[in-house]
Amino acid sequence: MIELVSTPDVERFRGAILRRMGLQFDDTKTALLSDVLRRRLAKRHAAGPLYLAELEADAPPEEWVALAEELTITETYFFRNRDQFDALAGAVLPDRMATHGKPRALKLLSAGCSSGEEAYTLAIVGTESLREPGWSVSVRAADLNPVALAKARRARYSEWSLRDTSPEMRRRWFVPDGSTMIVAPAVRERVKFETANLADPDSELWRPASYDVVFCRNVLMYFSAEQRRAVIDRLTESLLPGGYLFLGHAESLTGVTDAFHLCHTHDTFYYQRKEGVERNTRPVPVAPAPRAFRAGTVYDTAWSETIRAASERVSTLLPEQARPEPARRSNDLAPALDLLRRERFTEALDYIGGQPDTGDPGALLLSAVLLQQSGQLAEAEDTCRRLLGIDDLSAGAHYVLALCRENAGDLAAAADHDRIAAYLDPAFAMPRLHLGLLARRGGGREEARRELTQALILLENESTARLLMFGGGFNREALIALCRATLQECGGRP
Ligand SMILES: C[S@@+](CC[C@H](N)C(=O)[O-])C[C@H]1O[C@@H](n2cnc3c(N)ncnc32)[C@H](O)[C@@H]1O
Repeated sequence: MIELVSTPDVERFRGAILRRMGLQFDDTKTALLSDVLRRRLAKRHAAGPLYLAELEADAPPEEWVALAEELTITETYFFRNRDQFDALAGAVLPDRMATHGKPRALKLLSAGCSSGEEAYTLAIVGTESLREPGWSVSVRAADLNPVALAKARRARYSEWSLRDTSPEMRRRWFVPDGSTMIVAPAVRERVKFETANLADPDSELWRPASYDVVFCRNVLMYFSAEQRRAVIDRLTESLLPGGYLFLGHAESLTGVTDAFHLCHTHDTFYYQRKEGVERNTRPVPVAPAPRAFRAGTVYDTAWSETIRAASERVSTLLPEQARPEPARRSNDLAPALDLLRRERFTEALDYIGGQPDTGDPGALLLSAVLLQQSGQLAEAEDTCRRLLGIDDLSAGAHYVLALCRENAGDLAAAADHDRIAAYLDPAFAMPRLHLGLLARRGGGREEARRELTQALILLENESTARLLMFGGGFNREALIALCRATLQECGGRP
Protein backbone atom coordinates (compact mmCIF):
# COMPACT_ATOMS: atom_id res chain seq x y z
CA MET A 1 0.00 0.00 0.00
CA ILE A 2 1.33 3.48 -0.84
CA GLU A 3 1.48 5.69 2.26
CA LEU A 4 0.03 9.14 1.63
CA VAL A 5 1.87 12.08 3.15
CA SER A 6 0.16 15.26 4.22
CA THR A 7 1.50 18.80 3.76
CA PRO A 8 2.06 19.26 7.53
CA ASP A 9 4.04 15.98 7.54
CA VAL A 10 6.26 17.23 4.71
CA GLU A 11 6.79 20.47 6.65
CA ARG A 12 7.87 18.54 9.76
CA PHE A 13 10.15 16.39 7.60
CA ARG A 14 11.69 19.53 6.06
CA GLY A 15 12.27 21.03 9.53
CA ALA A 16 13.91 17.85 10.91
CA ILE A 17 16.28 17.65 7.92
CA LEU A 18 17.24 21.29 8.27
CA ARG A 19 17.96 20.97 11.99
CA ARG A 20 19.92 17.76 11.84
CA MET A 21 21.63 17.84 8.43
CA GLY A 22 21.74 21.57 7.78
CA LEU A 23 20.20 20.98 4.36
CA GLN A 24 17.63 23.51 3.22
CA PHE A 25 14.91 22.59 0.75
CA ASP A 26 12.79 25.47 -0.51
CA ASP A 27 9.26 25.25 -1.90
CA THR A 28 10.46 24.15 -5.34
CA LYS A 29 11.72 20.93 -3.67
CA THR A 30 8.46 20.01 -1.90
CA ALA A 31 7.65 17.23 -4.40
CA LEU A 32 11.12 15.71 -3.90
CA LEU A 33 10.72 15.82 -0.11
CA SER A 34 7.31 14.22 -0.18
CA ASP A 35 8.62 11.44 -2.50
CA VAL A 36 11.53 10.73 -0.17
CA LEU A 37 9.27 10.78 2.89
CA ARG A 38 6.86 8.36 1.18
CA ARG A 39 9.70 5.98 0.26
CA ARG A 40 11.17 6.03 3.78
CA LEU A 41 7.75 5.33 5.33
CA ALA A 42 7.25 2.36 2.98
CA LYS A 43 10.74 1.04 3.69
CA ARG A 44 10.36 1.38 7.48
CA HIS A 45 6.74 0.15 7.47
CA ALA A 46 6.06 3.19 9.62
CA ALA A 47 3.19 5.66 9.91
CA GLY A 48 3.96 9.33 9.26
CA PRO A 49 3.49 10.74 12.77
CA LEU A 50 5.54 7.97 14.43
CA TYR A 51 8.38 8.22 11.92
CA LEU A 52 8.51 12.02 12.19
CA ALA A 53 8.48 11.90 15.99
CA GLU A 54 11.43 9.52 15.79
CA LEU A 55 13.33 11.88 13.46
CA GLU A 56 12.62 14.83 15.75
CA ALA A 57 13.84 12.84 18.75
CA ASP A 58 17.10 12.13 16.89
CA ALA A 59 16.42 8.80 15.04
CA PRO A 60 19.03 6.02 14.70
CA PRO A 61 22.16 6.91 12.71
CA GLU A 62 21.22 4.44 9.91
CA GLU A 63 18.12 6.48 9.17
CA TRP A 64 20.14 9.67 8.72
CA VAL A 65 22.56 7.78 6.49
CA ALA A 66 19.65 6.59 4.33
CA LEU A 67 18.31 10.15 4.14
CA ALA A 68 21.76 11.48 3.19
CA GLU A 69 21.83 9.02 0.29
CA GLU A 70 18.42 10.18 -0.86
CA LEU A 71 18.89 13.92 -0.42
CA THR A 72 22.47 14.85 -1.34
CA ILE A 73 23.79 15.71 -4.80
CA THR A 74 27.16 14.07 -5.34
CA GLU A 75 28.23 15.35 -8.75
CA THR A 76 32.01 15.89 -8.89
CA TYR A 77 35.11 15.10 -11.03
CA PHE A 78 38.90 15.29 -10.94
CA PHE A 79 40.42 18.78 -11.36
CA ARG A 80 36.96 20.38 -11.20
CA ASN A 81 37.47 24.17 -11.61
CA ARG A 82 41.07 23.68 -12.65
CA ASP A 83 41.99 27.33 -12.00
CA GLN A 84 41.53 26.69 -8.27
CA PHE A 85 44.08 23.88 -8.38
CA ASP A 86 46.41 26.16 -10.36
CA ALA A 87 46.11 28.71 -7.54
CA LEU A 88 46.70 25.97 -4.97
CA ALA A 89 49.90 24.84 -6.73
CA GLY A 90 51.09 28.28 -7.83
CA ALA A 91 50.32 30.48 -4.81
CA VAL A 92 48.76 28.75 -1.83
CA LEU A 93 51.02 25.77 -1.15
CA PRO A 94 54.25 27.74 -1.79
CA ASP A 95 52.97 30.35 0.71
CA ARG A 96 52.11 27.72 3.29
CA MET A 97 55.53 26.11 2.91
CA ALA A 98 57.23 29.48 3.28
CA THR A 99 55.35 30.36 6.47
CA HIS A 100 54.76 26.93 8.02
CA GLY A 101 56.48 26.00 11.26
CA LYS A 102 57.59 22.50 12.20
CA PRO A 103 56.60 19.74 11.55
CA ARG A 104 56.85 20.23 7.80
CA ALA A 105 53.51 18.55 7.21
CA LEU A 106 50.78 20.16 5.09
CA LYS A 107 47.26 19.22 6.14
CA LEU A 108 44.40 19.61 3.68
CA LEU A 109 40.68 19.00 4.17
CA SER A 110 38.09 18.17 1.54
CA ALA A 111 34.80 18.94 3.33
CA GLY A 112 31.90 17.40 1.39
CA CYS A 113 34.25 15.21 -0.65
CA SER A 114 31.52 13.11 -2.29
CA SER A 115 33.09 10.14 -4.19
CA GLY A 116 36.67 11.33 -3.62
CA GLU A 117 37.72 13.01 -6.86
CA GLU A 118 38.38 16.37 -5.13
CA ALA A 119 40.38 14.76 -2.29
CA TYR A 120 42.56 12.76 -4.68
CA THR A 121 43.12 15.84 -6.83
CA LEU A 122 44.29 17.68 -3.69
CA ALA A 123 46.69 14.82 -2.94
CA ILE A 124 48.04 14.87 -6.52
CA VAL A 125 48.60 18.64 -6.54
CA GLY A 126 50.00 18.51 -2.99
CA THR A 127 52.43 15.73 -3.85
CA GLU A 128 53.61 17.55 -6.97
CA SER A 129 54.21 20.72 -4.92
CA LEU A 130 56.60 19.08 -2.45
CA ARG A 131 59.81 20.11 -4.16
CA GLU A 132 61.99 20.36 -1.04
CA PRO A 133 62.93 17.27 0.98
CA GLY A 134 61.44 16.79 4.44
CA TRP A 135 57.89 17.87 3.57
CA SER A 136 54.77 15.71 3.59
CA VAL A 137 51.14 16.28 2.63
CA SER A 138 47.99 14.54 3.83
CA VAL A 139 44.33 14.97 2.94
CA ARG A 140 41.41 14.37 5.24
CA ALA A 141 38.14 13.92 3.36
CA ALA A 142 34.66 13.91 4.87
CA ASP A 143 31.12 13.44 3.64
CA LEU A 144 27.69 12.53 4.91
CA ASN A 145 26.85 10.14 2.10
CA PRO A 146 28.11 6.59 2.75
CA VAL A 147 27.58 5.37 -0.82
CA ALA A 148 29.75 8.19 -2.17
CA LEU A 149 32.41 7.41 0.47
CA ALA A 150 32.43 3.71 -0.44
CA LYS A 151 33.11 4.68 -4.04
CA ALA A 152 35.85 7.07 -2.87
CA ARG A 153 37.61 4.27 -0.98
CA ARG A 154 37.48 1.97 -4.03
CA ALA A 155 39.34 4.71 -5.96
CA ARG A 156 38.18 3.29 -9.30
CA TYR A 157 36.73 5.78 -11.76
CA SER A 158 35.19 5.94 -15.22
CA GLU A 159 36.43 8.17 -18.03
CA TRP A 160 33.64 10.62 -17.19
CA SER A 161 35.23 11.40 -13.79
CA LEU A 162 38.51 12.17 -15.58
CA ARG A 163 36.96 14.39 -18.23
CA ASP A 164 39.07 17.37 -17.17
CA THR A 165 42.28 15.47 -16.34
CA SER A 166 45.25 15.99 -18.69
CA PRO A 167 46.97 13.02 -20.39
CA GLU A 168 50.12 13.83 -18.40
CA MET A 169 48.28 13.63 -15.06
CA ARG A 170 46.57 10.40 -16.10
CA ARG A 171 49.93 8.85 -16.99
CA ARG A 172 51.53 9.91 -13.71
CA TRP A 173 48.82 9.26 -11.17
CA PHE A 174 46.38 6.67 -12.52
CA VAL A 175 46.61 2.99 -13.42
CA PRO A 176 44.32 1.88 -16.28
CA ASP A 177 42.23 -1.21 -15.60
CA GLY A 178 39.92 -2.18 -18.46
CA SER A 179 37.59 0.72 -19.14
CA THR A 180 38.30 2.28 -15.72
CA MET A 181 41.19 4.14 -14.08
CA ILE A 182 42.46 3.40 -10.56
CA VAL A 183 44.17 6.10 -8.48
CA ALA A 184 47.86 5.27 -7.95
CA PRO A 185 48.82 3.95 -4.48
CA ALA A 186 51.19 6.90 -3.90
CA VAL A 187 48.14 9.20 -4.02
CA ARG A 188 45.72 6.91 -2.21
CA GLU A 189 47.96 6.53 0.81
CA ARG A 190 47.85 10.29 1.43
CA VAL A 191 44.02 10.46 1.69
CA LYS A 192 41.80 9.36 4.60
CA PHE A 193 38.02 9.27 4.13
CA GLU A 194 35.51 9.49 6.96
CA THR A 195 31.80 9.89 7.52
CA ALA A 196 30.99 13.28 9.03
CA ASN A 197 28.14 15.74 9.11
CA LEU A 198 29.42 19.28 8.53
CA ALA A 199 26.38 20.58 10.39
CA ASP A 200 27.47 18.74 13.56
CA PRO A 201 29.15 21.30 15.87
CA ASP A 202 30.91 18.57 17.87
CA SER A 203 32.53 16.83 14.95
CA GLU A 204 36.18 15.99 15.52
CA LEU A 205 36.71 17.53 12.08
CA TRP A 206 36.66 20.99 13.64
CA ARG A 207 39.65 20.69 15.98
CA PRO A 208 41.14 24.22 16.18
CA ALA A 209 44.08 25.15 13.95
CA SER A 210 44.19 21.80 12.14
CA TYR A 211 44.40 22.60 8.42
CA ASP A 212 46.56 24.56 6.02
CA VAL A 213 43.92 24.44 3.31
CA VAL A 214 40.21 23.59 3.26
CA PHE A 215 38.24 22.87 0.11
CA CYS A 216 34.51 23.12 0.87
CA ARG A 217 33.05 23.43 -2.61
CA ASN A 218 29.47 23.10 -3.75
CA VAL A 219 28.27 22.03 -0.32
CA LEU A 220 27.30 25.23 1.52
CA MET A 221 24.83 26.13 -1.21
CA TYR A 222 22.46 23.46 0.14
CA PHE A 223 22.60 24.84 3.70
CA SER A 224 20.32 27.40 5.31
CA ALA A 225 21.89 30.84 5.88
CA GLU A 226 22.14 30.12 9.59
CA GLN A 227 23.80 26.73 9.12
CA ARG A 228 26.16 28.15 6.48
CA ARG A 229 27.35 30.77 8.91
CA ALA A 230 27.76 28.20 11.70
CA VAL A 231 29.76 25.86 9.44
CA ILE A 232 31.97 28.73 8.25
CA ASP A 233 32.62 29.76 11.87
CA ARG A 234 33.73 26.23 12.79
CA LEU A 235 35.72 25.89 9.61
CA THR A 236 37.48 29.21 10.32
CA GLU A 237 38.66 27.99 13.69
CA SER A 238 39.81 24.69 12.22
CA LEU A 239 42.11 26.54 9.79
CA LEU A 240 45.56 27.60 10.86
CA PRO A 241 45.95 31.41 10.90
CA GLY A 242 47.03 32.30 7.36
CA GLY A 243 45.43 29.08 6.07
CA TYR A 244 43.32 29.08 2.91
CA LEU A 245 39.71 28.30 2.04
CA PHE A 246 38.31 27.43 -1.39
CA LEU A 247 34.56 27.52 -2.04
CA GLY A 248 32.58 26.52 -5.14
CA HIS A 249 32.43 29.03 -8.01
CA ALA A 250 28.89 30.06 -7.13
CA GLU A 251 29.60 30.47 -3.40
CA SER A 252 31.17 33.35 -1.49
CA LEU A 253 31.72 34.57 2.07
CA THR A 254 30.06 37.92 1.49
CA GLY A 255 27.86 38.80 4.44
CA VAL A 256 28.89 35.63 6.25
CA THR A 257 32.17 36.43 8.01
CA ASP A 258 34.94 39.01 8.18
CA ALA A 259 37.59 36.52 9.23
CA PHE A 260 39.16 36.19 5.75
CA HIS A 261 41.05 38.19 3.16
CA LEU A 262 39.88 37.71 -0.41
CA CYS A 263 42.60 36.37 -2.76
CA HIS A 264 42.41 36.69 -6.54
CA THR A 265 45.07 34.89 -8.57
CA HIS A 266 45.11 32.39 -11.46
CA ASP A 267 41.71 33.72 -12.63
CA THR A 268 40.00 32.49 -9.51
CA PHE A 269 38.89 33.61 -6.05
CA TYR A 270 39.67 32.07 -2.71
CA TYR A 271 40.18 33.19 0.88
CA GLN A 272 42.98 33.46 3.41
CA ARG A 273 42.21 33.36 7.11
CA LYS A 274 43.32 36.55 8.85
CA GLU A 275 45.98 36.04 11.49
CA GLY A 276 44.54 35.92 15.01
CA VAL A 277 40.80 36.10 14.16
CA GLU A 278 38.84 33.84 16.45
CA ARG A 279 35.25 35.04 16.31
CA ASN A 280 32.93 36.27 13.64
CA THR A 281 32.50 39.97 14.31
CA ARG A 282 30.77 40.89 11.08
CA PRO A 283 28.22 43.66 11.72
CA VAL A 284 24.66 43.43 10.47
CA PRO A 285 24.55 45.32 7.14
CA VAL A 286 22.77 48.70 7.01
CA ALA A 287 19.44 48.52 5.13
CA PRO A 288 18.42 51.94 3.80
CA ALA A 289 14.78 52.75 3.16
CA PRO A 290 13.59 51.81 -0.36
CA ARG A 291 12.44 54.69 -2.62
CA ALA A 292 11.89 55.17 -6.36
CA PHE A 293 13.99 57.34 -8.72
CA ARG A 294 13.39 59.06 -12.03
CA ALA A 295 13.82 57.40 -15.44
CA GLY A 296 16.94 57.78 -17.59
CA THR A 297 18.13 57.08 -21.12
CA VAL A 298 21.08 55.56 -23.02
CA TYR A 299 24.48 57.24 -22.57
CA ASP A 300 27.57 57.24 -24.69
CA THR A 301 30.12 58.55 -22.20
CA ALA A 302 31.75 56.73 -19.29
CA TRP A 303 29.16 55.37 -16.86
CA SER A 304 30.90 56.98 -13.89
CA GLU A 305 30.79 60.35 -15.64
CA THR A 306 27.11 59.86 -16.50
CA ILE A 307 26.28 59.26 -12.84
CA ARG A 308 28.11 62.38 -11.75
CA ALA A 309 26.58 64.63 -14.43
CA ALA A 310 23.05 63.34 -13.81
CA SER A 311 23.47 63.89 -10.10
CA GLU A 312 24.63 67.48 -10.51
CA ARG A 313 21.75 68.32 -12.81
CA VAL A 314 19.13 66.90 -10.48
CA SER A 315 20.53 68.44 -7.31
CA THR A 316 20.08 71.95 -8.77
CA LEU A 317 16.38 71.24 -9.33
CA LEU A 318 15.66 70.06 -5.81
CA PRO A 319 14.16 72.39 -3.22
CA GLU A 320 16.28 73.19 -0.19
CA GLN A 321 15.46 71.04 2.83
CA ALA A 322 16.29 71.40 6.45
CA ARG A 323 19.75 70.03 7.12
CA PRO A 324 19.79 67.21 9.70
CA GLU A 325 22.07 67.37 12.69
CA PRO A 326 25.45 65.67 12.07
CA ALA A 327 25.49 61.97 12.96
CA ARG A 328 26.26 61.28 16.57
CA ARG A 329 26.48 57.54 16.16
CA SER A 330 28.38 56.22 13.17
CA ASN A 331 25.69 53.63 12.44
CA ASP A 332 22.88 56.18 12.34
CA LEU A 333 22.93 56.46 8.56
CA ALA A 334 19.25 56.81 7.71
CA PRO A 335 19.30 60.64 7.34
CA ALA A 336 22.37 60.43 5.08
CA LEU A 337 20.67 57.81 2.94
CA ASP A 338 17.65 60.04 2.68
CA LEU A 339 19.89 62.88 1.49
CA LEU A 340 21.49 60.50 -1.02
CA ARG A 341 18.01 59.57 -2.27
CA ARG A 342 17.42 63.29 -2.87
CA GLU A 343 20.91 63.55 -4.45
CA ARG A 344 22.07 66.12 -1.91
CA PHE A 345 25.54 64.65 -1.75
CA THR A 346 27.38 67.48 -0.04
CA GLU A 347 24.88 67.62 2.79
CA ALA A 348 24.93 63.85 3.12
CA LEU A 349 28.73 63.96 3.29
CA ASP A 350 28.59 66.71 5.89
CA TYR A 351 26.17 64.61 7.87
CA ILE A 352 28.40 61.55 8.00
CA GLY A 353 31.50 63.70 8.42
CA GLY A 354 33.20 63.71 4.98
CA GLN A 355 35.61 60.82 5.12
CA PRO A 356 34.65 59.41 8.51
CA ASP A 357 37.52 58.20 10.63
CA THR A 358 35.18 55.54 11.92
CA GLY A 359 35.73 51.82 11.55
CA ASP A 360 32.06 51.38 10.64
CA PRO A 361 31.94 49.72 7.20
CA GLY A 362 28.42 51.05 6.53
CA ALA A 363 29.48 54.69 7.07
CA LEU A 364 32.64 54.22 4.99
CA LEU A 365 30.77 52.67 2.09
CA LEU A 366 28.13 55.37 2.07
CA SER A 367 30.78 58.04 2.22
CA ALA A 368 32.67 56.39 -0.70
CA VAL A 369 29.46 56.38 -2.77
CA LEU A 370 28.78 60.05 -1.95
CA LEU A 371 32.36 61.10 -2.72
CA GLN A 372 32.29 59.25 -6.04
CA GLN A 373 28.93 60.70 -7.00
CA SER A 374 30.04 64.21 -6.16
CA GLY A 375 33.19 63.83 -8.28
CA GLN A 376 35.75 63.61 -5.42
CA LEU A 377 37.30 60.52 -6.93
CA ALA A 378 40.67 60.41 -5.17
CA GLU A 379 38.88 60.69 -1.81
CA ALA A 380 36.35 58.06 -2.89
CA GLU A 381 39.14 55.64 -3.81
CA ASP A 382 40.93 56.35 -0.56
CA THR A 383 37.76 55.65 1.42
CA CYS A 384 37.15 52.40 -0.50
CA ARG A 385 40.66 51.22 0.26
CA ARG A 386 40.20 52.03 3.95
CA LEU A 387 36.97 50.07 3.89
CA LEU A 388 38.67 47.12 2.19
CA GLY A 389 41.31 47.25 4.93
CA ILE A 390 38.51 46.48 7.41
CA ASP A 391 36.37 44.28 5.20
CA ASP A 392 37.99 43.10 2.02
CA LEU A 393 34.86 41.19 1.07
CA SER A 394 32.92 44.40 0.46
CA ALA A 395 31.37 44.05 -3.00
CA GLY A 396 30.15 47.66 -2.80
CA ALA A 397 33.68 49.03 -2.24
CA HIS A 398 34.93 47.14 -5.30
CA TYR A 399 32.07 48.49 -7.40
CA VAL A 400 32.78 52.09 -6.37
CA LEU A 401 36.48 51.50 -7.09
CA ALA A 402 35.49 50.24 -10.55
CA LEU A 403 33.70 53.54 -11.21
CA CYS A 404 36.69 55.55 -9.97
CA ARG A 405 39.14 53.53 -12.06
CA GLU A 406 36.97 53.98 -15.15
CA ASN A 407 37.04 57.69 -14.57
CA ALA A 408 40.82 57.60 -14.31
CA GLY A 409 40.95 55.86 -17.72
CA ASP A 410 42.20 52.59 -16.20
CA LEU A 411 39.58 50.37 -17.81
CA ALA A 412 41.35 47.08 -17.10
CA ALA A 413 41.42 47.79 -13.36
CA ALA A 414 37.79 48.98 -13.52
CA ALA A 415 36.71 45.68 -15.08
CA ASP A 416 38.78 43.77 -12.54
CA HIS A 417 37.03 45.48 -9.61
CA ASP A 418 33.64 44.85 -11.22
CA ARG A 419 34.48 41.16 -11.59
CA ILE A 420 35.50 40.95 -7.93
CA ALA A 421 32.27 42.70 -6.87
CA ALA A 422 30.19 40.34 -9.03
CA TYR A 423 32.01 37.35 -7.59
CA LEU A 424 31.60 38.54 -4.01
CA ASP A 425 27.91 39.11 -4.52
CA PRO A 426 26.49 37.21 -7.49
CA ALA A 427 23.11 38.95 -7.04
CA PHE A 428 24.63 42.45 -7.36
CA ALA A 429 23.36 43.87 -10.68
CA MET A 430 25.45 47.08 -11.00
CA PRO A 431 28.91 45.52 -11.55
CA ARG A 432 27.41 43.34 -14.31
CA LEU A 433 25.81 46.36 -15.92
CA HIS A 434 29.08 48.28 -15.64
CA LEU A 435 31.06 45.36 -17.11
CA GLY A 436 28.62 45.30 -20.02
CA LEU A 437 29.03 49.04 -20.63
CA LEU A 438 32.83 48.80 -20.36
CA ALA A 439 32.88 45.88 -22.82
CA ARG A 440 30.70 47.85 -25.25
CA ARG A 441 33.06 50.82 -25.05
CA GLY A 442 35.98 48.49 -25.80
CA GLY A 443 34.19 46.88 -28.76
CA GLY A 444 33.68 43.51 -27.02
CA ARG A 445 30.14 43.02 -28.24
CA GLU A 446 29.84 39.40 -27.20
CA GLU A 447 31.07 40.08 -23.67
CA ALA A 448 28.80 43.14 -23.52
CA ARG A 449 25.81 40.99 -24.51
CA ARG A 450 26.66 38.35 -21.92
CA GLU A 451 27.08 40.82 -19.05
CA LEU A 452 24.07 42.95 -19.96
CA THR A 453 21.83 39.90 -20.27
CA GLN A 454 22.93 38.85 -16.80
CA ALA A 455 22.45 42.42 -15.50
CA LEU A 456 18.90 42.49 -16.88
CA ILE A 457 17.98 39.34 -14.97
CA LEU A 458 19.58 40.63 -11.76
CA LEU A 459 18.03 44.10 -12.05
CA GLU A 460 14.55 42.62 -11.95
CA ASN A 461 15.25 41.29 -8.45
CA GLU A 462 17.77 43.81 -7.16
CA SER A 463 16.75 45.33 -3.84
CA THR A 464 15.43 48.89 -4.02
CA ALA A 465 17.76 49.81 -1.17
CA ARG A 466 20.80 48.74 -3.13
CA LEU A 467 19.59 50.52 -6.25
CA LEU A 468 19.31 53.65 -4.17
CA MET A 469 22.88 53.24 -2.95
CA PHE A 470 24.56 52.22 -6.21
CA GLY A 471 22.13 53.04 -9.03
CA GLY A 472 23.75 56.43 -9.63
CA GLY A 473 20.44 58.27 -9.43
CA PHE A 474 18.59 55.97 -11.83
CA ASN A 475 15.68 53.84 -10.75
CA ARG A 476 15.11 50.20 -11.68
CA GLU A 477 13.07 50.99 -14.81
CA ALA A 478 15.69 53.44 -16.08
CA LEU A 479 18.52 50.97 -15.55
CA ILE A 480 16.54 48.18 -17.25
CA ALA A 481 15.80 50.51 -20.18
CA LEU A 482 19.51 51.41 -20.42
CA CYS A 483 20.44 47.73 -20.34
CA ARG A 484 17.91 46.80 -23.04
CA ALA A 485 18.88 49.66 -25.35
CA THR A 486 22.60 48.85 -25.04
CA LEU A 487 21.94 45.15 -25.55
CA GLN A 488 20.04 45.88 -28.73
CA GLU A 489 22.84 48.10 -29.95
CA CYS A 490 25.27 45.21 -29.39
CA GLY A 491 23.12 42.88 -31.47
CA GLY A 492 21.49 41.13 -28.50
CA ARG A 493 17.83 40.43 -27.79
CA PRO A 494 16.56 43.20 -25.45
C1 LIG B 1 28.01 18.41 -5.17
S1 LIG B 1 28.97 17.44 -4.07
C2 LIG B 1 30.48 18.35 -4.05
C3 LIG B 1 31.70 17.47 -4.18
C4 LIG B 1 33.00 18.24 -4.26
N1 LIG B 1 33.21 19.05 -3.09
C5 LIG B 1 33.06 19.11 -5.52
O1 LIG B 1 32.83 20.30 -5.45
O2 LIG B 1 33.30 18.56 -6.59
C6 LIG B 1 28.23 17.86 -2.50
C7 LIG B 1 28.61 16.87 -1.42
O3 LIG B 1 28.32 17.47 -0.15
C8 LIG B 1 27.89 16.45 0.72
N2 LIG B 1 27.14 17.02 1.84
C9 LIG B 1 25.95 17.67 1.80
N3 LIG B 1 25.58 18.01 3.04
C10 LIG B 1 26.54 17.56 3.87
C11 LIG B 1 26.71 17.61 5.28
N4 LIG B 1 25.79 18.19 6.08
N5 LIG B 1 27.81 17.04 5.80
C12 LIG B 1 28.74 16.44 5.00
N6 LIG B 1 28.62 16.38 3.67
C13 LIG B 1 27.53 16.92 3.11
C14 LIG B 1 27.02 15.58 -0.19
O4 LIG B 1 26.85 14.28 0.34
C15 LIG B 1 27.81 15.60 -1.49
O5 LIG B 1 28.65 14.48 -1.60
